[in-house]
Amino acid sequence: MAEKPTLRWGILATGMISSWFVADLSLDRQDAQANHVIQAIGSSSLEKGKAFVAEHLPGKSPTVYGSYEELYADPEVDIIYIGTPHSFHKQNCLDAIRHGKNVLCEKAFALTAPEACEVLDAAREKGVFIMEAMWTRFFPIVRALQQKLHEEKAIGAVHRAFCDFSFDMKIPSLGPASRLKNPALGAGTLLDIGIYSLTWTILGLEPPLGPAPARAAPEKTPKVVAAQSLDDGVDVATTIVLLYEDGRQGIATAHATVKSQRDFARIEGSEGTVIVEGDAAAVPSSFIVKKLDGEEKRYDFPRPGRGFYWEADAVALDIAAGRKENAIMPWAETLRVMEIMDETRRQGGARFPVDKD
Ligand SMILES: NC(=O)c1ccc[n+]([C@@H]2O[C@H](COP(=O)([O-])OP(=O)(O)OC[C@H]3O[C@@H](n4cnc5c(N)ncnc54)[C@H](OP(=O)(O)O)[C@@H]3O)[C@@H](O)[C@H]2O)c1
Repeated sequence: MAEKPTLRWGILATGMISSWFVADLSLDRQDAQANHVIQAIGSSSLEKGKAFVAEHLPGKSPTVYGSYEELYADPEVDIIYIGTPHSFHKQNCLDAIRHGKNVLCEKAFALTAPEACEVLDAAREKGVFIMEAMWTRFFPIVRALQQKLHEEKAIGAVHRAFCDFSFDMKIPSLGPASRLKNPALGAGTLLDIGIYSLTWTILGLEPPLGPAPARAAPEKTPKVVAAQSLDDGVDVATTIVLLYEDGRQGIATAHATVKSQRDFARIEGSEGTVIVEGDAAAVPSSFIVKKLDGEEKRYDFPRPGRGFYWEADAVALDIAAGRKENAIMPWAETLRVMEIMDETRRQGGARFPVDKD
């Protein structure tokens, strides 16, 4: 059996998501596809970096840098994981690429599609691997669901998909510097959680793209009809309707005050319905196939930790094989989702300082 690849991670930023990511990569897993080494941490301050290691990587001693630049320059680091607010993703990616580093960048990949394009062009030119960390797509439940829907056709022809990701983000109580409140940092329901609702709607309605070079052409982007509720210029609720030429409909919603139900997604077909459940749309745990004749079957997918290791394993396998993009989250899909989000904000009214209009 081939030896598992080893990937040495440089973690950029020490916020919440970076803490979740390193905790998951540190789990002892029987079925791990790769060895993940937290090689170095880059933070805006050395003190923050050291405190992060003490709290989230007990017993480990990665190199800690009090600047991002030193992390990019570390020759022992194979890949940079970017866990900064949305508005910094473009520059962080470009800087990492300039140093010849591979990149896994948190969602949303950038603030806008043109920004995403600029980053992908730079990665292509430099010949490094880069992927948007849309981790949920790598959960085994997603592959199983796609198989049920699009290969086994368990509910016949899929016509409609609905997904909601909402929770109380307590925005009024946050300070103006919070990444959830400040438009300059990419605040708002759309980039933070609406991107998941959108992803599930697409996953429900469209067959998977498959690996290159035999990858199916991505579907034509559906027509987008969108509305947003704004508070101080920040979208606190987003509704996106996707309308496909053949009549398929998707409705993706996100709200910053109410909490989604556990059954966060519903996919309807000519012969039944699938309900997807979980604590949130980011962390699906089961789905139920309900046939029109009354037959009902539930599929459960328990997991240790949170589930970031699945995307990390996929990245490690890609890099070991010399691939520059991932088949489950390919560059074209990152761009297409960013374009839908740009159009959603154009219609809904949420603006970032980088917007041209
Ligand atoms: N996949 C998921 O489930 C998930 C969940 C939550 C968030 N996210 C994504 O992860 C990213 C970060 O979110 P988060 O919740 O981890 O944010 P956070 O807790 O606010 O942390 C962001 C980190 O970025 C760095 N940073 C640099 N400049 C900053 C600035 N001007 N303001 C704030 N932070 C700054 C800071 O680290 P240093 O000071 O150490 O440099 C900070 O700790 C976003 O893209 C978000 O959408 C993903």
